[in-house]
Amino acid sequence: MKICYEVQKDDYDSAGRVSSQIKKTLKQMGFGPQMIKRVAVSSYESEINLIIHSLGGTLCLEVDDEGIITLACDDVGPGIPNLDLAMQPGYSTASKKAREFGFGAGMGLVNMKRMSSAFDIASSGEGTHIRMVFHD
Ligand SMILES: Nc1ncnc2c1ncn2[C@@H]1O[C@H](COP(=O)(O)OP(=O)(O)OP(=O)(O)O)[C@@H](O)[C@H]1O
Ligand SMILES: [Mg+2]
Repeated sequence: MKICYEVQKDDYDSAGRVSSQIKKTLKQMGFGPQMIKRVAVSSYESEINLIIHSLGGTLCLEVDDEGIITLACDDVGPGIPNLDLAMQPGYSTASKKAREFGFGAGMGLVNMKRMSSAFDIASSGEGTHIRMVFHD
């Protein structure tokens, strides 16, 4: 099964809505608390990044027949100029507004990588594309 959610830029009011939906779906499917936590943290960080950094995009949850979970986060820009820098713990270009909401610790990408079994990121001026796979 595959479900995709659209996330709008600057939509602070709905921050966290998509990741709670994903969490609920995985719970209904019978996944355990540890797996749910890993995917929930990663989907939350992905969703927030779409809101505070991107021009808008989608977050897709896919579960295959073997129960392997994939999250795909794709946006339409502006892209990340230096991925090595962006992947460093504590690096953040978050706006004043994002920081007022409590975001901008520069830990989102690091945590996504830590929580996932496989993590791939690609970015250009046309957008950022992240694929995370989760299994035991
Ligand atoms: N989808 C994106 N589009 C453009 N830039 C991004 C995107 N995601 C991350 N970045 C860039 O990578 C940096 C690091 O992202 P990361 O999620 O690790 O930290 P953060 O969002 O700044 O803070 P935190 O996630 O801890 O609230 C961001 O500050 C931003 O410069
Ligand atoms: Mg972030």
